[in-house]
Amino acid sequence: MRSEWCRELLKLVKSVEGGDEAHGFPHTLRVLCRALKLAEGKNVDYRVLVASALLHDIGRPFENQAGVHHAALSAFMARLILPGLGFSPEEVARVERAILEHSFSLSEKNRDKPGSKSSIESCILSDADKLDALGAVGAYRLVETSAQRRRSMRQTLAHYHEKLSKLPDYMCTEEARREAAQLLERLRSFVEWLYEESKDYFDLAEAVDKAFPSTGY
Ligand SMILES: [Fe+2]
Ligand SMILES: [Fe+2]
Repeated sequence: MRSEWCRELLKLVKSVEGGDEAHGFPHTLRVLCRALKLAEGKNVDYRVLVASALLHDIGRPFENQAGVHHAALSAFMARLILPGLGFSPEEVARVERAILEHSFSLSEKNRDKPGSKSSIESCILSDADKLDALGAVGAYRLVETSAQRRRSMRQTLAHYHEKLSKLPDYMCTEEARREAAQLLERLRSFVEWLYEESKDYFDLAEAVDKAFPSTGY
């Protein structure tokens, strides 16, 4: 907050991303907090790290309209924004790489292996972003995102098993890997209780769906 460029970025990103707790500016602030914590005791470039964390999802609000992955859009926007805030071409390039490398879905597609990030700042951003999907905060985001996307409870559980439960395997730093394992236990416990309490309902809903496949929602 002390640097002018940081104040400018905070103002800009807040106004672009909005208040969506799961994927908007609140998520970006939590990622920044986690990134700064993971950076403690490491030799990092704080300008690159903070700019990467603040801008990593700035393209998300335009993703559907543009038909481009939000990481690519965010990197593009960083290239446009940062030179005007005094960032050198080399700093901008490092921010762009970190933003491109933060995405779980892009990493999976590119078969990125853990530890293959291009810089320590990229490693930390990717870890901080993924940690925000775990633990009690992760449970909060899981429910909120499911409600926004009108996912059923069953689909929500499937999303946990298909994506969230795998996140610890994608951690880049040792500290994040340890923290991810602890946070996954919290999230797993929530998901297991959800399943446990809903088993009879799931069985009944399946039977009703089979009996009346084209009726209702
Ligand atoms: Fe993202
Ligand atoms: Fe993110």
